[in-house]
Amino acid sequence: MHSYSATAQAHPNIAFIKYWGNRDNALRLPSNGSISMNLEGLFTRTTVSFQPSLPFDELIINGHAVMGKGLERVSYILDLVREQAGIKMNAEVMSENNFPAGAGIASSAAAFAALALASSKAAGLELSEAELSRLARRGSGSASRSIPTGFVEWHMGSGDGDCVAVSIAPPDHWDLADCVAIINASHKKTGSTEGHALAWTSPLQAGRVADASRRLEICREAILQKDFKSFADILELDSDMMHAVMMTSNPPLMYWQAATVDIFHAVREWRADGLPCAYTVDAGANVHVICPRDQAGAVEKKLRELPGVRDVLVARVGGPARIV
Ligand code: DP6
Repeated sequence: MHSYSATAQAHPNIAFIKYWGNRDNALRLPSNGSISMNLEGLFTRTTVSFQPSLPFDELIINGHAVMGKGLERVSYILDLVREQAGIKMNAEVMSENNFPAGAGIASSAAAFAALALASSKAAGLELSEAELSRLARRGSGSASRSIPTGFVEWHMGSGDGDCVAVSIAPPDHWDLADCVAIINASHKKTGSTEGHALAWTSPLQAGRVADASRRLEICREAILQKDFKSFADILELDSDMMHAVMMTSNPPLMYWQAATVDIFHAVREWRADGLPCAYTVDAGANVHVICPRDQAGAVEKKLRELPGVRDVLVARVGGPARIV
């Protein structure tokens, strides 16, 4: 008889080929496949315990009780687990992030990956990696990519059953680092879930999606061959294409600040001068600068010298979601 309680930990990830827009919003079936790497050192740790005495699900994040939309999104995953395990108990979910909120690192990927693993384990289910990836996806699309290890590709699949993320290389395959330049941006941004729903209002989304398998192939090959030159070009192209869609959706989403664009220019100049580094940006203003890990010190130093850069976090390639 198990205890109906489990703790799991998962890393956030940074997408190299972006997920933007769904073909099915409810199931989170994306309009295109995506590729990412997990971020070592940053994690969400979540404990789920199903208890017969609880009148409803409870969610506590970094010591604070969360209600409303946040709790609903968690209960939705717990419902899927309860249904599969054939249990009716409510759960207490306690979650901690070791990275600052507002650091521009999506916490939903690590959060739903850890929740999928902890809740299924607590309910007595032994899910495969593919099943965990599908479950995490229902909470947040990018969370599907935080289940497997290292460099990960999330396949769009033909439906719910094969829309899964798989590892394409372990963390030690290619020693890259993500130097996250945190800039001063106080204004409130539109969340990813609302953003995905706007993607197809942009006249550019169809072109972006039609070209996705080509970009995925180039990115996957660049990772497998450790070809930084072709990796850098496709990374920046894919990020710029996603932001072009964002900026031309209705209503338009403009995540870049002046400092964001200043960093783009600086990164391209450094690369032209022989420092291997390339930029990518998610649904925020902060810039992720990817480089070989032995160059991370130099990249971090240069980023800190730029006006408008408030802080820099450095993460290397991380492992899979795991039970702790
Ligand atoms: C720009 O996975 O956060 O970071 O499924 O609504 O939770 P939801 O969206 P989310 O979207 C991620 C968007 C992105 C690109 C990416 O990570 O691929």
